[in-house]
Amino acid sequence: MRAFVSLSFAALAIASLTASAQAPAKMLAAPQAAPKEQLAAPQVPPMGWNSWNYFAGKVDDKAIRDAADQLVSSGMKDAGYTYVNIDDTWEGERDANGVLHTNAKFPDMPALADYVHSKGLKIGIYSSPGPKTCAGYEGSLGHEEQDAKTYAEWGIDYLKYDLCSFNEQVMKKQAPNDRANQMRLMIDAYSRMDKALKATGRPIIYSLCQYGWDSVWEWGPSVGANLWRSTDDIAPTWDRVYVILNQQEGLEKYSGPGHWNDPDMLEVGNGKLSLAENRTHFSMWAMLAAPLLAGNDLPNMRPEIKAILTNRDVIAIDQDPLGHQGARIYSDGEVDVWTRPLSGGALAIAVVNAGSDRYLTHPFHLNLYKLGLAETQSAKDLWTGKAVELKDNMSLELASHDVLLVRLDAPMRLASRP
Ligand code: GAL
Repeated sequence: MRAFVSLSFAALAIASLTASAQAPAKMLAAPQAAPKEQLAAPQVPPMGWNSWNYFAGKVDDKAIRDAADQLVSSGMKDAGYTYVNIDDTWEGERDANGVLHTNAKFPDMPALADYVHSKGLKIGIYSSPGPKTCAGYEGSLGHEEQDAKTYAEWGIDYLKYDLCSFNEQVMKKQAPNDRANQMRLMIDAYSRMDKALKATGRPIIYSLCQYGWDSVWEWGPSVGANLWRSTDDIAPTWDRVYVILNQQEGLEKYSGPGHWNDPDMLEVGNGKLSLAENRTHFSMWAMLAAPLLAGNDLPNMRPEIKAILTNRDVIAIDQDPLGHQGARIYSDGEVDVWTRPLSGGALAIAVVNAGSDRYLTHPFHLNLYKLGLAETQSAKDLWTGKAVELKDNMSLELASHDVLLVRLDAPMRLASRP
């Protein structure tokens, strides 16, 4: 059941605090490494669908065409989902000239790319800097220019480049017991593919996948990355989603237009995630300005899952043009309160209950002062669509693993924090 937000507020009167509307959003520090010139620089986090989380090794040409069809017919395309990304297991053999071909599951990649493009969508592909991908298929080691050229000829718009065997086969072999040099080899490999992609002249989104090693957020922009995985793999369980969410704390200063932290693809609609957990996962990826790559079985999507994935108000948080990733401001017991500054001085607040149900016997009390906000605020609940009034110290009933996500278009800020 959806969390019920009590509208019976226990308001605190702190008369000495003054408030000002629409104070300028807090300036965040610039990323450490300046982004290199980018042919494809997504000004908002990329949105689309990726085959791995549901299909894994079973993906084929039909699954990709079906996904493209469904993005259109479900309204997801209209809501912003654009990329249809083929993950691992499409790769075949190299020919005598070293040109990589697809395997039997993908008989004609240019025709598939044309099909996806004909729907007004874009298409993504996957490879590894190592000799083999994580699923043991052909990687790009020593063939970076050739593979980038092949992708461009096929009409590919997005590349996910996954470290995989490069660790064992190159880093550990070329620099045994020397972790720093291993990391340098890894960074060089990512830079090599960046140059190869740029040399094609085709704008191709460049997505790094090396599980956040060596603080990739510090150097990702310098190798032309548009996004980089900031964690190990996601799974369709609450525990995994919540661990990844908390790992993003402190990374907000590294993300911004053209270069995004990627807490991994969405599991909304997968596994045994409850509706509350799906809602919280989606809400919090929006708060994190995360790429929104759905990973579910689109042709068999339940209406309530479609409703989550197409919630325009939540998507607007993710796609906010300011591009500031949200941050956790405080936790109280098992409830976390995050905020995200939005364009035009607006603000999103998310209250996540990671514990068991909170009833009115022992509700959660929202502390607006800790958020730098005055005692009373007008907001919109983005899951009910209703206007709500927030009061400092208000009582919230929150179901287990559920979220309250609100948008304040004109937050009344405290002139100074208490
Ligand atoms: C993993 C990666 C997954 C998926 C998989 C494919 O390393 O994190 O997202 O791409 O490889 O083999």
